[in-house]
Amino acid sequence: MNELVFRTERLLPHLEGFDNQQFAESAKTARRKVLDGSGAGNDFLGWRDWPEKIDTKIVEKIAADAARLAPKIKIFVVIGIGGSYLGARAVIEALQGSFATMGMTNRPVVVYAGHTLSEDYYADLMNLLDANDYAVAVISKSGTTTEPAVAFRIVKDHIERKYGKTEAARRIIAITDARKGTLRQIALDEGYSMYEIPDDIGGRFSVLTPVGLVPIAMAGLDINALLDGAREMREVCLGDENPSTNPAMLYAMIRQAACAKGYPVEMLVNFMPQLVYLGEWWKQLYGESEGKDGLGILPHSATFTTDLHSMGQYIQDGQRLLFETVLSVAKPKRHVEIPYDEKNLDGLNYLQHKSINDINHCAQEGTVMAHNSGRVPVLEIEVPEVSERTLGQLIYFFEFACGVSAYMTGVNPFNQPGVEAYKSNMFRLLGKPGV
Ligand code: PA5
Repeated sequence: MNELVFRTERLLPHLEGFDNQQFAESAKTARRKVLDGSGAGNDFLGWRDWPEKIDTKIVEKIAADAARLAPKIKIFVVIGIGGSYLGARAVIEALQGSFATMGMTNRPVVVYAGHTLSEDYYADLMNLLDANDYAVAVISKSGTTTEPAVAFRIVKDHIERKYGKTEAARRIIAITDARKGTLRQIALDEGYSMYEIPDDIGGRFSVLTPVGLVPIAMAGLDINALLDGAREMREVCLGDENPSTNPAMLYAMIRQAACAKGYPVEMLVNFMPQLVYLGEWWKQLYGESEGKDGLGILPHSATFTTDLHSMGQYIQDGQRLLFETVLSVAKPKRHVEIPYDEKNLDGLNYLQHKSINDINHCAQEGTVMAHNSGRVPVLEIEVPEVSERTLGQLIYFFEFACGVSAYMTGVNPFNQPGVEAYKSNMFRLLGKPGV
């Protein structure tokens, strides 16, 4: 089942030639590469069938770890960078409630580490961990990435001093490669609960593996429903070879056509602050997959109406180089009405008994119309609600479309050679042995 609704009427008029056979043929060829593994990077296509292939024993082990740890902790620290934390954060922030970090939930509050080298951040984290019971997931596919390795050394030292070595080992989960990497060796030596990241799934395509599922389950969210959503979208993406009805092919074609028409920047827009990290995850997925060999659409994201009061000016009036993909949510989970006010000094009684969502909806419609008249092509993708199932659908949809779009661009979607440049400079400056 596909619950994503595409609205292209404010996009197509800007993309003259979009239904050009050339894009459709290119999308078909690219999809075929994802399906038959005949494209570059074909040893990293494991994500394609993973929602079907995932062993139920993995899901059971995750549920058991969550049931064992959640009741005795206030904080769950997720250590990872890039694909090793963004997907989990996207799902958790979308679903856990806006003020979960303020203790407005009976589940552990998930905090993040290993995604920064800010000293002040780690000092603040240590203060938090001094004051609260906690457990940790350390996540690194390679098991050698510097940022999470440094964070884990600090947190491991802290947790062992706080609880003693034996109890600390019970509170640490390691998620890493099945065969190699220093993290794997540490986890085996110390006897941590361990999960393997499949060889053929790269970091930014790994949210539906234990990389994302462990933190998401720890936050009290339904990982089975997330996987169900992904399975539903997999059937659609794999089963439909028509580029104008397969949503992943359609999206990939639209992106490529927009770029060819002189719009090399895509802004993924949402109207809910809970979706900020979905935008961060999406930026990594598309930025690392497509931005290479001097090619690729620059992925950017914004949350409206917040950013209408900052980036809104540029979008409306600046250089014409971006197209927008508005991720629209039909129904909020809860209801907040505008109250009546006797004095009406703020003049807002005309909104009485309207919901905030009614206003947000008009803001969205007004924005799309305004940007469109400012010559910004706007694609709208609507989901009925934000839930584990719809997020599972969206994740799989964006992943499949990313593979298709990157093959249409002519690059290998699954490597990231450009990420190495800063690392070798940093290692040289730090005097790393052997560099
Ligand atoms: O998508 C990717 O492969 C990267 O963003 C990685 O996820 C990121 O560099 C972290 O790597 P690792 O999980 O090996 O520590």
